[in-house]
Amino acid sequence: MIIGSNILFFENLSSTNTHTADLLKKNNVQEGTIVQTNYQSSGRGYWGNSWESEDGKNLLISIVLFPSFIKPEDQFLISMAISLGISDFLLSIIPGCSIKWPNDIWVNNDKIAGILIESSLSGDQIEFTVAGIGLNINQEKFLSEAPNPISLRLLTGMNYDLPTCLNQLASHLDKRYKQLIAGNYSQVKKEYVSKLFRLNELFEFKDFQGIFTGRILNVGDYGRLKIGKQNGDIKEYAFKEIEFIP
Ligand code: BTN
Repeated sequence: MIIGSNILFFENLSSTNTHTADLLKKNNVQEGTIVQTNYQSSGRGYWGNSWESEDGKNLLISIVLFPSFIKPEDQFLISMAISLGISDFLLSIIPGCSIKWPNDIWVNNDKIAGILIESSLSGDQIEFTVAGIGLNINQEKFLSEAPNPISLRLLTGMNYDLPTCLNQLASHLDKRYKQLIAGNYSQVKKEYVSKLFRLNELFEFKDFQGIFTGRILNVGDYGRLKIGKQNGDIKEYAFKEIEFIP
């Protein structure tokens, strides 16, 4: 086992990603180490957003990876593997979930998990990656502005044991990371694309030109989202260049 071979638990932290990056600067940290906390005072999401999580209710973790075998331009593979690992874990408990590009995990139309992947590059190599995951398990009330949070508890009415969930999640993430180590990139990409929220269905999106109707076709280089517009054009979008219209 790589992911989950070592778990460092802290009662509270500002952010598991920030703390993990600090640890990496100061110490030798073994690959696969999971930094876990019960509460983050400054939990971070994408684009400077914050991440809400009630004390002791959810999984808040960061995983240390040294994916030097992946070229920096292919680093979206890490996002795909982590998204799939979370999806595998959820599917062992609930009947369905999807990945909202680039890496939100959704159940129906609600968000159950967020991923914040931060990598440090050295020359043309990935020096280290901190893969942060916030997975809502037992929280019943969400207070922030986040539009559509959900938890396993809200979905099933059951309460879950966090250490058991973490062990199971780690084992699914480990399998997916090992697919990357084995160079099985096409399989990871194929499964990731097959689980994309709104894949191949006509929906409205918004780009810099305005709202249009189209369907998600695939994921291209650098993890860009490939969308076929209703007018026949095919375009690839980087993060923040495209919005899903609810
Ligand atoms: C997002 O959807 O915007 C990403 C959210 C990522 C949240 C997790 S919680 C554990 C880790 N530490 C952080 O500060 N953020 C990530």
